Amino acid sequence: MTTYLVTGGAGFIGSNFIHFMLGKYGDSIKIINVDVLTYAGNPENLAAVADYPGYSFIKADICDKEKITAIFRENEIDVVVHFAAESHVDRSIADPEVFVRTNVLGTLVMLNSAKGAWEKEDGTYPKGKKFIHISTDEVYGSLTEEGTYFYETTPYDPRSPYSASKAGSDMLVRSYMETYKFPANITNCSNNYGPYQFPEKLIPLIINNALQGKKLPVYGDGKNVRDWLYVEDHAKAIDLVCEKGGLFETYNIGGHNEKQNIEIVKIILDTLLDMLPDSDPRKKHISHDLITYVEDRKGHDRRYAIAPDKIKADLGWEPDTMFAEGIRLTIAWYFENTDWMAHVTSGEYQDYYDRMYK
Ligand code: NAD
Ligand code: TYD
Repeated sequence: MTTYLVTGGAGFIGSNFIHFMLGKYGDSIKIINVDVLTYAGNPENLAAVADYPGYSFIKADICDKEKITAIFRENEIDVVVHFAAESHVDRSIADPEVFVRTNVLGTLVMLNSAKGAWEKEDGTYPKGKKFIHISTDEVYGSLTEEGTYFYETTPYDPRSPYSASKAGSDMLVRSYMETYKFPANITNCSNNYGPYQFPEKLIPLIINNALQGKKLPVYGDGKNVRDWLYVEDHAKAIDLVCEKGGLFETYNIGGHNEKQNIEIVKIILDTLLDMLPDSDPRKKHISHDLITYVEDRKGHDRRYAIAPDKIKADLGWEPDTMFAEGIRLTIAWYFENTDWMAHVTSGEYQDYYDRMYK
């Protein structure tokens, strides 16, 4: 039986990954979710699997060396899937320090703890042990020319404190692979969307605001491009990397789904109008008049676009969910989970929102 240590499993992608893995493998795997539960981590995201015999949760900070070492000592971990991070660019611009602490130092603690637990006396590692480091396409910087893409070989050019801290963590993982032959993979994925995404990010923020008839803030000219991937497709890709990824390899993950932010906002509005019955009182608030251009993000990356050729060729991965379907699934999830939204937007969120959007 394979035992996975998932960090940051109470966040957006981590919780979707845990749902996917337990749905696919059931009792034949064990998952230990290690999460300190920052504002972005929510145990409600795992309520449906909390009682699975193979699932357990440990509240711990990945920067806490003693605690993380103890988790490796007390459990026979086979595969680490390391999601835990500070993940929001706007927050990194306002307060970079916690990004360096969690993303860089936290990753170092995870690497050292796994290495300490797994490395044999001769410096090799038992078969089956593997560390999957979940990173982002933002480490590659910003594309300007159409038809250019991020490949695994594209030089790093991070431009926000978030992407710089993720780049730092990637470099540490690369150095461990080179120096210690530490068994790892790095994945660099494009923007995800889907259930359980915290409404500081574009898609859930727009859905939530539109349903309340609030303004829809679009940064700058709205023409920045992101390459959107349905989160379950990302989970499937990570599962494949865990199972078949060549040791020390990096994989770019993306679905060739580039859209300008303004297109995304308009698609969400039109899809909401299409999906809501006329009898729903929220429908009367929703219109394109809610779109409000606001001051641009500082250092706003213009375009991200992933070339997923390698993961397709080597592991046979391709996204299953096209955007038109994925956005309907996502909106349907937010319709059904108004309590979830109410819980995550109480407290700290309101202060953040007021600071950001004044
Ligand atoms: P998220 O912000 O939704 O979740 C992060 C999780 O990490 C939360 O549960 C939080 O409590 C936990 N965490 C934060 N600091 C911690 C610490 N010190 N110790 C333990 N746990 C801690 O993030 P997400 O969107 O799910 O992203 C997950 C990973 O995927 C990140 O590494 C991110 O860089 C990467 N990524 C995200 C996207 C995206 O579109 N969201 C795209 C590509 C890559
Ligand atoms: P976001 O979801 O924060 O992801 P990232 O910055 O990691 O790509 O933002 C996606 C895009 O949407 C990005 O170009 C910034 C833009 N954006 C807005 O225009 N308005 C908003 O309120 C937010 C949160 C983002």
